[in-house]
Amino acid sequence: MTELKAIAADITTLGVDAIVNAANETLLGGGGVDGAIHRAAGPRLLEACRPLGGCPTGEARITPGFDLPARWVIHTVGPVWRGGRADEPALLADCYRHALRLSDLYQVSEIAFPGISTGVYGYPPELAAPIAVSTVAETLPNLRSMARVVFCCFSDRDLAIYEEALATID
Ligand code: APR
Repeated sequence: MTELKAIAADITTLGVDAIVNAANETLLGGGGVDGAIHRAAGPRLLEACRPLGGCPTGEARITPGFDLPARWVIHTVGPVWRGGRADEPALLADCYRHALRLSDLYQVSEIAFPGISTGVYGYPPELAAPIAVSTVAETLPNLRSMARVVFCCFSDRDLAIYEEALATID
């Protein structure tokens, strides 16, 4: 049985197999968690991202973690919130689904997600969290190696939102 858990932490400090980056379609870095991950991973991360040629919204790409404690970084691009009628919920779900499927190809057994799209991209966390949690829960049966999925929040407020979402799927 895969454990699902929410914590409040800096995702760049987690010694898990893979951390997920909330990137943009260029995959060339940015602010927020993307900036933090690139700073902590070092310049080799950008060198590894360049040849990938970007990533469409909803899809995922993998690179090594370099100077991070995590072995892998799975870069995914969340939707920009436009009010909820521009396919944002489906695209956000795609991020979690594709990140998990890609991690499974690399035998990842412990993965940490930030709150994809809930920062600069403006997705309300209280709407994003149920999508994140339900998409992970429904994807897990198709995975072979996942033992633990961590929702890594960056504030106590977001932690409470993700814990509430987790409580609804037991
Ligand atoms: N650890 C964990 N979570 C973090 C960290 C961190 N070190 N830094 C920020 N966060 C949280 C934010 O508080 C937010 O809840 O990550 C979540 C996602 O916020 P953003 O990083 O702004 O990502 P997103 O909303 O998906 O916007 C992506 O922002 O940084 C740029 O290049 C990125 O253009 C892309 C856009």
